[in-house]
Amino acid sequence: MKLILLGAPGVGKGTQAQFITEAYSIPQISTGDMLREAVKAESKLGLEVKAVMDRGDLVTDEIIIALVKDRIQQSDCDRGFLFDGFPRTIPQAEALVAQDIHLDAVVEISVDYEEIIKRMSGRRVHPGSGRTYHVEYNPPKVSGCDDETGEPLIQRDDDQEQTVRDRLRVYEEQTSPLVDYYQHMAKHSALEYFSVDGQGTVLEIKQKVLHALSQVSERQS
Ligand code: AP5
Repeated sequence: MKLILLGAPGVGKGTQAQFITEAYSIPQISTGDMLREAVKAESKLGLEVKAVMDRGDLVTDEIIIALVKDRIQQSDCDRGFLFDGFPRTIPQAEALVAQDIHLDAVVEISVDYEEIIKRMSGRRVHPGSGRTYHVEYNPPKVSGCDDETGEPLIQRDDDQEQTVRDRLRVYEEQTSPLVDYYQHMAKHSALEYFSVDGQGTVLEIKQKVLHALSQVSERQS
């Protein structure tokens, strides 16, 4: 299965990605996680993108497309993959077409912006794996510690309220046109497009997302 999770910052893409990758045994390709790893490692790429990410702006298409092209060559992508946070612009989506990558489904998750701001302010992340929690809505078993490794959780630098508002504006301007782009593609190809209301508990959204995707896997079998 080749899938895209589409939606504004904080709608729960990373949270749902964990369930989808488990259900379909495919890797999650989160460009945000890949960039944060580069920042942490202080690599040339990390130094180049840190200020852009801290502001909530988008990293250039050239950098992102090169990162993704490289990542999908790896052998764990042979059975497919889940893009989380990619593509985020029309040129990024067109780069997939140019590479002849045929997607099975796009799952768009939407949540109203005030709820997103509440979710982001309580978000905690395990930097090693990208596992995501919320202090109130999705707490770890032990406060402040990752469930699997017990390592400390952190708060992301770009989760300050003003930066979240800037990221939402960037989403409106540069990423939301992908909704029309993929709905149009779904009308003219085998791609399936699902819109999921992301308000509700993590498990309620999980059920909706996995139900939508089960229709794709049934059709393919
Ligand atoms: P990225 O890491 O991709 O961030 P994002 O898309 O802004 O998404 P988030 O990770 O913030 O949110 P999410 O939807 O995954 O929500 P989550 O599941 O964590 O990108 C970061 C930056 O990298 C960008 O700003 C840009 O600079 C750069 N970048 C990355 N990709 C790029 C690209 N392709 N092109 C250019 N630049 C790029 O959930 C949020 C919180 O809510 C959590 O605390 C969670 O526990 C909680 N929660 C989840 N579901 C629920 C629920 N149902 N009810 C209550 N709480 C919930």
